[in-house]
Amino acid sequence: MINYRPFLDTLTDTALAHWQAPLAEQLDHLFATLNDGNLPRFLKQLDRLPVIEGVHVDLDQVAVSSDQPLSPDQSKQLNDALRGLIPWRKGPFQVFDTFIDSEWRCDLKWARVAPHISNLTQRIVLDVGSGNGYYGWRMKAAGARLVAGIDPSWLSVVQHLAINHYIQDPTHTVLPLTMEAMAPDLEAFDTVFSMGVLYHRRSPLDHLAELRAALRPGGELVLETLVIEGNDKEALVPPGRYARMNNVWFLPSPEALVTWLEKIGFDNVRIVDVTQTRPEEQRTTEWKPGQSFSDYLDPEDAGRTIEGHPAPLRAVLVAEKPANAERLRRYHLD
Ligand SMILES: C[S@@+](CC[C@H](N)C(=O)[O-])C[C@H]1O[C@@H](n2cnc3c(N)ncnc32)[C@H](O)[C@@H]1O
Repeated sequence: MINYRPFLDTLTDTALAHWQAPLAEQLDHLFATLNDGNLPRFLKQLDRLPVIEGVHVDLDQVAVSSDQPLSPDQSKQLNDALRGLIPWRKGPFQVFDTFIDSEWRCDLKWARVAPHISNLTQRIVLDVGSGNGYYGWRMKAAGARLVAGIDPSWLSVVQHLAINHYIQDPTHTVLPLTMEAMAPDLEAFDTVFSMGVLYHRRSPLDHLAELRAALRPGGELVLETLVIEGNDKEALVPPGRYARMNNVWFLPSPEALVTWLEKIGFDNVRIVDVTQTRPEEQRTTEWKPGQSFSDYLDPEDAGRTIEGHPAPLRAVLVAEKPANAERLRRYHLD
């Protein structure tokens, strides 16, 4: 249903060549057995995207423009098709004369992450829980050779196709997979990002082990997640919902997260940023109508969620997978 062949072809002669055949088979099986009414509806919007000549791409701004102004018909078709893929949670994107003002200002998170990571030039990157691939474009702009986003949300997958319809880059994709469903032990990515995913996992240490298994020895993990203030032994397991989300399991302190990462066999673990989420970063817009961040907080106390938990605080940690096989074996993980 979605042609992943151009991306699969880019894996030839890379450290991911051994993923090519199993991934092709996995995607074939997925589409052969798929029974999801939403995907055809989302894909229909792609057919409505107008043909536009003379496209220029500015990946730093995640913006596409054209030599010629769009005709009123082209503008309307473009805007209608992109609105057909609402809600846009991640962005922003400038698509010719349409500005997708997404719920999240992902540029703000990227500005907190980017200064602390290894240079991405020529690196092969996995972005776990990539959403619609906003960060992947920023990674490409920073020089990454190849970015594989994975996200089980079909809307995210199709939003990425809509943006890539004009950028036309086969080296950046969003695959409809969870981390758990990915081929295990690829041991091939230079950098693995997991941002905004760990707290959704009931078994967060298993998630860290899966991330580690995707990395090559010496590769870098960039982990971003919700945290709480506390000592190195503390984690919150919110009973019921957290900020209206019903799938939040573990919110460790940043120091506890360091312990978890070391226990799973990462080295050189650093907490590089801790930031309180603010309503400027996550808010209702015309591209994501309905409730947003401010509605998830206690109206009397912005330091608490509506359920009375500490308000969202997010940390970025960077860590390395040991290059040394002896050190890997000590953890009995390989
Ligand atoms: C809170 S969003 C974070 C998106 C983006 N990484 C960011 O930091 O803004 C979490 C994303 O992870 C995806 N997701 C949830 N469980 C996942 C899993 N097990 N494996 C991969 N992605 C997952 C969701 O579909 C969603 O798009």
